[in-house]
Amino acid sequence: MDFEFTEEQKQIRALAREFAQKEIAPLAAEYDARGEFPRATIRQMGELGLMGIEIPTEYGGAGLDTLCYALALEEISKADAAHGTIMSVNNSLFCYGLYKYGAEAQKQKYLAPVASGKKIGAYSLTEPQSGSDAGNMRTMAVADGDSYVINGRKSWVTSGPVADFIILFAMVQPALKHKGTSAFMIDTTQPGFERGKVEPKLGIRASATCEIAYDNYRVPASERVGQDGDGFKIAMSILDAGRIGIAAQALGIAQAAFEASVKYAKEREAFGSKIGEFQAIQWMLADMATRIQAARLLVYNAALKKMRGEKYTRDASMAKLYASETAMWVTTKAIQVHGGIGYSKELPLERYFRDAKITEIYEGTSEIQRLVIARETLKQFS
Ligand code: CAA
Repeated sequence: MDFEFTEEQKQIRALAREFAQKEIAPLAAEYDARGEFPRATIRQMGELGLMGIEIPTEYGGAGLDTLCYALALEEISKADAAHGTIMSVNNSLFCYGLYKYGAEAQKQKYLAPVASGKKIGAYSLTEPQSGSDAGNMRTMAVADGDSYVINGRKSWVTSGPVADFIILFAMVQPALKHKGTSAFMIDTTQPGFERGKVEPKLGIRASATCEIAYDNYRVPASERVGQDGDGFKIAMSILDAGRIGIAAQALGIAQAAFEASVKYAKEREAFGSKIGEFQAIQWMLADMATRIQAARLLVYNAALKKMRGEKYTRDASMAKLYASETAMWVTTKAIQVHGGIGYSKELPLERYFRDAKITEIYEGTSEIQRLVIARETLKQFS
């Protein structure tokens, strides 16, 4: 692996870091407390090219590579993981998916506004009865002349409460199970689209999540993404890309908690010494640093494989699994290093801890990542 970053990679990382620390970090606690979607900063991120990093400039994106995306997402998430979630869904689950599988007319119509951050994109696969078992969806899209009529209920739609456009997965031929699914581009202003319950979440509270009901929503066949029957594979392949993003987000959360812990260990005194002089604290810092470095290498490895056009399903799952478990572990230990004040809302440690948890759950739980890694590994050695 070559870790000599290009000028572009260094520049986007510096730009994201500066914006995140100056504009996002000071507001993160307030947005979290209010559970408010941060429209103004998301719009600014769009203007900076952070909402469609890998999308070519002719479609409104920044025309950069996957490593640029991972570096920028880590920096944004280090300031606030909720901004990281919104950025990651917009970039990977919507823009990347549409860029890879959408028809030219769909790209012209939907990609430019979303990649430039003027509009918000979302992805909708999960249903109340089908989370990990994503193929078991019941939302139906019934062909009717030159359109489809969609009925059903989706859940856990990240950015659902504010999304302008959604890439939706629905069942067209239930008898064929996952081979009977298709993907559709949904315009949330059309009749039959109804936003439901907004989820009251533990963490990433500034990122909005809700249920969505489709009640005889009519979508023209020209808005189907890919062919009938391709839906599940499109959903899975988009998630491969998305998992690199979530891994980078987890890395950002872990890095923030780690840096705060190092600073505190050098300042706080107990028993006549700085606590950083005690081995009990040193070992926690050493393990944090080591796990974060390992997670970072896995993220870069997955990003590089994607950039080279190699299959990266296993690598993305490894990066997501390891980085998310690292974020949870590091944020737990970071509170321990801080003691009582780490448990208080006066510091962002408890927010990092709450935010880290979701990275082990969405875009595939840690159990699903292990399943994917095991299946891909067994295939590799067969
Ligand atoms: N890329 C392309 N195709 C893939 C693929 C991939 N990464 N993974 C599987 N496929 C294909 C398989 O090759 C197979 O194709 P054939 O039918 O031609 O053989 C087909 O898809 C079915 O694959 P599986 O037999 O492996 O399917 P499965 O039912 O056993 O499920 C799974 C596999 C890995 C468990 C999958 O269901 C999964 O990833 N589940 C988790 C879903 C998930 O991450 N949900 C999160 C949604 S997004 C979210 O969190 C909210 C948000 O807004 C952020």
